[in-house]
Amino acid sequence: MSDVHNIVGGPERAPARSHLHAMGIDPARMGGPVVGIASTWTGTMPCNLTQRDLAREVAAGVEAAGGVPLEFNTIAVSDNLTMGTPGMRASLVSREVIADSIELVASAHPFDALVCIVGCDKTVPAAIMALARLDIPGVVLASGPKLGGRWHGRDVSVQDVWEAVGEHAAGRLSDEDLAGLERVACPGAGTCAGQFTANTMAVAVDFLGLGAPFGAGLMPAVHGRKGAAARGAGALAIDAAARGVRPRALLDGRALRNAIAAVAASGGSTNAVLHLLAIADEAGVALDIDEFDAIGARTPVLASLKPGGAWLAQDFHRAGSTPALAAALLERGLIDGDAPTVSGRTLAELAAPTRDPQVVVGPGDAPFKPGGALAVLRGNLAPEGSVVKLAGAERALHRGPARVFDGEAAAHAAVLAGDVAEGDVVVIRGEGPAGGPGMREMLAVTAAIVGRGLGASVALVTDGRFSGATRGLMVGHVAPEAALGGPLAHVREGDEILIDIAARALSLGVSDEELAARAAGPAAAWPAPPGRVFAKYAASVGSASRGAVTR
Ligand code: FES
Repeated sequence: MSDVHNIVGGPERAPARSHLHAMGIDPARMGGPVVGIASTWTGTMPCNLTQRDLAREVAAGVEAAGGVPLEFNTIAVSDNLTMGTPGMRASLVSREVIADSIELVASAHPFDALVCIVGCDKTVPAAIMALARLDIPGVVLASGPKLGGRWHGRDVSVQDVWEAVGEHAAGRLSDEDLAGLERVACPGAGTCAGQFTANTMAVAVDFLGLGAPFGAGLMPAVHGRKGAAARGAGALAIDAAARGVRPRALLDGRALRNAIAAVAASGGSTNAVLHLLAIADEAGVALDIDEFDAIGARTPVLASLKPGGAWLAQDFHRAGSTPALAAALLERGLIDGDAPTVSGRTLAELAAPTRDPQVVVGPGDAPFKPGGALAVLRGNLAPEGSVVKLAGAERALHRGPARVFDGEAAAHAAVLAGDVAEGDVVVIRGEGPAGGPGMREMLAVTAAIVGRGLGASVALVTDGRFSGATRGLMVGHVAPEAALGGPLAHVREGDEILIDIAARALSLGVSDEELAARAAGPAAAWPAPPGRVFAKYAASVGSASRGAVTR
């Protein structure tokens, strides 16, 4: 019997039993199984808006399977609402706070099992990190993507709105069209509708073996069968507890490499690099950032999903979702199908052929792109590595003069003002995990570059990160970061920067001696963290090349 059952036994526990009576729970039922339901609902974003209802469905599934459900909530931060603002600093910080919250509640009320309901970007890795720390049986249910909007005869998502801002600034889109697009792009609740970070991580959850039920995470949030999927997640958590399936037994090197392959094959977000490194760290698995490059190089794009491909998340679900992606990867020998999942079935047993080869390739089909959805670049500008997404970039080589900006706002203003020219390499520094703090996403800048028609001729290099909706030749996660004295801090306006994907190189065209002389000069003064929580985070966060985990 676990500690959770001991909290109600004996005369001295009468006060605790009083509180159970107050909630309508018969203390005798605390003999188990007791299932914690961690919801990441907040009313501040559409992404997680359905989760209160889903939590009740999960609870119904737990009850129906003979368990006692105990619901609790965490915080969450919307990336889209905060993008391009100081509030975006809170996004990555929230990953740690959510993981800590789940860990803390589960430590206070040691459950037999956990169901984590996740949606918006950081909530997904946070839940997996918490499960890895706690190592109690658990499952992760993704609440699901939004449907696409419809505008001028085509499906659209919030990515189109971001890029429309740049088109509007360039005078190529009217006020009326911008307002019209903004009204229809996001027709209801759910995560952003492309293979952006939230949905990328929902794919990863399944390939890590923790998704429940397998393939249901990418079912749209408003789908009529989502409630049934949630009840299934509740029942599966109890089943996993009965079988003694613990997260760390699933979260091994094989599962992480399967997840990396799935992210690459779906043209997923570069944020997955950061998050999977952090999950590996929490699970005690040795995983190096260069493995993303090796797996990315051999993994073709097998699902044509926006922003690099043609289709939205709703189409991915219609085409068969992660079971179809698993089948396509297995056919090419790119994942290990013997990997177990929380369901008790292997990945290979859960794979199923695509229902639409336009979205996920069918047996014998050619990939949508031959390989290399993301790459890790190194060089004198990124000795610890940097990450570039290739699924949304058409160029493999760029050489140009640096346009240096300390912080995102200055770069965004320059792009919108037409102060960035073809061939330039926009350098945004001071946005790393500690320097930001919080490693903001640069979607406002990258979308403005694309919107101004510079996507094919301008590159960007930053110690910040990118939204999954970013496309173009954009290099992020540059480590070590500028605020900690990384070489990015010593780049000067007009310095030549080389991005060479084939050579996996990110190089600054100055000599080692010159770079050392610049480093020996006075250190730049970076702004102080804007509040106590950010100061605590900045003091405890590690390098992006190791997942930006806190210690
Ligand atoms: Fe929440 Fe996109 S901002 S999923």
